[in-house]
Order: sequence, then C-alpha cells, then structure tokens
Amino acid sequence: MLRRIRAARGSVAIALALVIAVLAGFTVAAARDRVPERAPVFDTPRGEQCIAEVTEMRRNHMRHLVHQRDAVVREGKREARQGLQDCIACHAGEKSGSVLGETGFCASCHRYAAVSIDCFECHSPRAAPKNGEQR
Ligand code: HEC
Ligand code: HEC
Ligand code: HEC
Repeated sequence: MLRRIRAARGSVAIALALVIAVLAGFTVAAARDRVPERAPVFDTPRGEQCIAEVTEMRRNHMRHLVHQRDAVVREGKREARQGLQDCIACHAGEKSGSVLGETGFCASCHRYAAVSIDCFECHSPRAAPKNGEQR
C-alpha cells in the first residue's frame, strides 16, 4: 500500500514537472515573439549613406550633433554635412517633410527608446524647401 502511494506520488510529480516544462516553453516562445525584429518603423532616409557607418550613427549620433553645435556656437566653424539641418534634409519623411510625427525619423525612434530631446523647441524639424529658401 505504502509503495503504491509512493509510486502514485512519483508519477504525479513527473506529470507536474512536465506541465511546468511545457508552460515554461510557452512563456519563452511568447517572450521571443514580443521582441521586435527591427525596432521602430520610421521614414526611410534619403541619400546613399549617412555621414558615418549606421552602427556608429545608431550609437553615437548625439555626439556628432553636440560636437557640431559646439564647433559652430563656440568656435564658429561649420563642418560640411554635419549640421542638424543636414540630418533633417536626408531624414525628413517624404510626405511629412519632417523628422517628427508618427513615423518621423527622430521622433519614432526616440518614442520607442523613451528618449526626449528639446532640440526642436528652437530648431525646425522640417526640411528646408527645395527651392533653396531658408527657414
Ligand atoms: C534654446 C534654443 C535651442 C535649443 C533648445 C537647441 N538649440 Fe541648437 N542652436 C541654437 C542656436 C541659436 C544655434 C546657433 C544657430 C546657428 O549658428 O546656426 C544652434 C546651433 C546648433 C547647431 C550648429 C548649427 C547647425 O545647424 O549645425 C547644432 C548642430 C545644434 N544647434 C544642435 C542642437 C541639438 C542637437 C539640440 C538638442 C539637444 C539643440 N541644438 C537645442 C538654439 C538651440
Ligand atoms: C546624405 C544624407 C544623410 C545625412 C546628411 C545624414 N544621414 Fe543619417 N542616414 C542616412 C541614410 C541613407 C541612412 C541609412 C543607411 C543604411 O541603412 O545603410 C542613415 C542612417 C542613420 C541612422 C541609423 C538609423 C537606423 O537604421 O538605425 C541614424 C541614427 C542617423 N542616420 C542619424 C543622422 C544624424 C543625427 C545626422 C546629422 C548629424 C544624419 N543622420 C545625417 C542619410 C543621411
Ligand atoms: C535608431 C534610433 C534613433 C534614431 C533614428 C534617432 N535617435 Fe537620437 N537617440 C536614440 C537613443 C536610443 C538615444 C539615447 C542614447 C543614450 O542615452 O545613450 C538618443 C539620444 C539622442 C540625443 C541625446 C539626448 C540626451 O538627452 O542625451 C540627441 C540630441 C538625439 N538623440 C538627437 C537625434 C536626432 C536629431 C535624430 C534625428 C535626426 C535622432 N536622434 C534619431 C535613438 C535614435
């Protein structure tokens, strides 16, 4: 009798272990499904390539901007193609003409990464019109 109970307990334990294993498997699979393939969806950049390697830009674009700002504001030097308006010229959405908004290049990625920047309180987020007129 005692042996039978032990045997029964044993199989209950095995069954329980199986259930837990299967559930754990589901949880892992579900978690994997939630990880996006390619983080935020934003407007496609124009031009052949960025001012630096994409991996470098992803990680360090803020340094490029701050460096350029300091160069311009403190030292009065403007490096070609490094200005904020240059970023915007290539990165503004085809339809919106802006780097902000739903699919805006800067905005959508920052929303995703929970980053907030105040740059566009002063700087225009819109690409300058193509006729060369300045804003
Ligand atoms: C309070 C207003 C203000 C804010 C906020 C601000 N800027 Fe500026 N920024 C200026 C002014 C004014 C200049 C000088 C304009 C010029 O010489 O082109 C400037 C110049 C620059 C320049 C060099 C000129 C250019 O277009 O390349 C860069 C780059 C720049 N800012 C980036 C930024 C970034 C990035 C942020 C956000 C982190 C930011 N700024 C926030 C006012 C501001
Ligand atoms: C001549 C056009 C051009 C200019 C100017 C430019 N970019 Fe880019 N940028 C691109 C292109 C094209 C890509 C995508 C390249 C690729 O996917 O191989 C890109 C990629 C990027 C990425 C990576 C996006 C991703 O897929 O994760 C960031 C961040 C970025 N740029 C920021 C900037 C900033 C900030 C500036 C200004 C300092 C700037 N870019 C200036 C064309 C430009
Ligand atoms: C691929 C995603 C992505 C794109 C596209 C992107 N950013 Fe960022 N940005 C980030 C992340 C992530 C951080 C925070 C990095 C950190 O804290 O180390 C950041 C930080 C910044 C910062 C510094 C903020 C701070 O408080 O330190 C500035 C300035 C900035 N981004 C400007 C821009 C501008 C301008 C554009 C559009 C031309 C842009 N970013 C496009 C992901 C992106």
